[in-house]
Amino acid sequence: GDVRLWGGRFADGPSDALAALSASVHFDWRLAPYDIAGSRAHARVLHKAGLLTADELTRMVAGLDQLEADVADGSFTGTIADEDVHTALERGLLERLGADLGGKLRAGRSRNDQVATLFRMYLRDHARIVGGLIADLQDALVGLAEAHPDAAMPGRTHLQHAQPVLFAHHMLAHVQSLSRDAERLRQWDKRTAVSPYGSGALAGSSLGLDPEAVAADLGFERGSVGNSIDGTASRDFVAEFAFVTAMIGVNLSRIAEEIILWNTKEFSFVTLHDAFSTGSSIMPQKKNPDIAELARGKSGRLIGNLTGLLATLKALPLAYNRDLQEDKEPVFDSCDQLEVLLPAFTGMMATLTVHRERMEALAPAGFSLATDIAEWLVKQGVPFRVAHEVAGECVKECEVLGIELNELSDDQFAKISEHLTPDVRSVLNVPGALASRSGRGGTAPSAVAVQLSEVKADLVIQ
Ligand code: ARG
Repeated sequence: GDVRLWGGRFADGPSDALAALSASVHFDWRLAPYDIAGSRAHARVLHKAGLLTADELTRMVAGLDQLEADVADGSFTGTIADEDVHTALERGLLERLGADLGGKLRAGRSRNDQVATLFRMYLRDHARIVGGLIADLQDALVGLAEAHPDAAMPGRTHLQHAQPVLFAHHMLAHVQSLSRDAERLRQWDKRTAVSPYGSGALAGSSLGLDPEAVAADLGFERGSVGNSIDGTASRDFVAEFAFVTAMIGVNLSRIAEEIILWNTKEFSFVTLHDAFSTGSSIMPQKKNPDIAELARGKSGRLIGNLTGLLATLKALPLAYNRDLQEDKEPVFDSCDQLEVLLPAFTGMMATLTVHRERMEALAPAGFSLATDIAEWLVKQGVPFRVAHEVAGECVKECEVLGIELNELSDDQFAKISEHLTPDVRSVLNVPGALASRSGRGGTAPSAVAVQLSEVKADLVIQ
């Protein structure tokens, strides 16, 4: 039969073209369990307001329980003719309870406040799932740091050799940015813990319903919205979620890019596990970093989900407009992408073989200890401006001679500057350079050990 929710004032049903355009059930069906939970809570406040008898409430809840089971085992599903998940579930309830009782549930609510509430519930659950997957990745990165606590590598700026750093320090840098992402998810969740149910289409309800009771029932710790127009029309919680997931994607893409580089013949810093790399259909020798490449690629898609959503929201007048139906697919996709990407990415990192000797051999290359000469001179009382100049001349000399800084002879040092006594050699080695940067946040093994314990304590809380 005709399942439209607005039959009364219409002589004709929707055209096929309209129905095809309008339908969202193929993507909003995933909200079904949340819709049913919302209906249960709504039935209870209808009863509290005297609009459902105790017996009707009991039968209504039983009907919703049955519908929930039928949705879960697939025996009831929405169809395109239902338009959206809310309409489909209304049909399901009417089929189970009959029109007299089933038809009472719609009082005092609108799909506008329903969808705004369910969407929050769905995203809150997935914020928690994504947060857990981020913690898994952080564990893998911490594991790499702990497995190689004193391995040196070339630290880079502009992708050029800059100064030696600890590999563990570099891994923990990525852990730090992921910690902020996890924190962003927690803060977002707190902001989103407010229920729009009871806002109706936009103006609230005249039926004496209790939005705070519904909010408590549905796990919204911060109660119900203070403004029904805002409750039905605002989607900044969606845009913010899209931002946080895009940021996660961007942070993953930065790790990914490094793995792709480190995995090249030229770098040879790491080898990927067979189970987390792919081969080529034509080149038998190939072992490709596809997981990292997909992470890099999907970050673009996650950014697109954010920008598309912001464009949809821009200049939308209050309150609800059907444009808002376009808000779900982008962030559903962001959840789906991260939930398949993160476990693979974590597996890739957890099984990485690190070639410590190769990284350490390159750590002092490219004159990356030049800063240590300058800082050694400063400790001898030489102004930094002069020290920088002198260290620069050492580099120039080495470039001409085709040698490294520690290979300059005593005479050559002395010729460059009277301040360059043979003692300068004490800092011209990677372990010394690392150990000297022992202030908070620095790359010395002692400082990185402190950072590691802070990060691990933070991960327990997270
Ligand atoms: N399916 C709609 C959405 O996702 C909710 C229904 C509101 N529709 C309406 N015509 N008021 O936004």
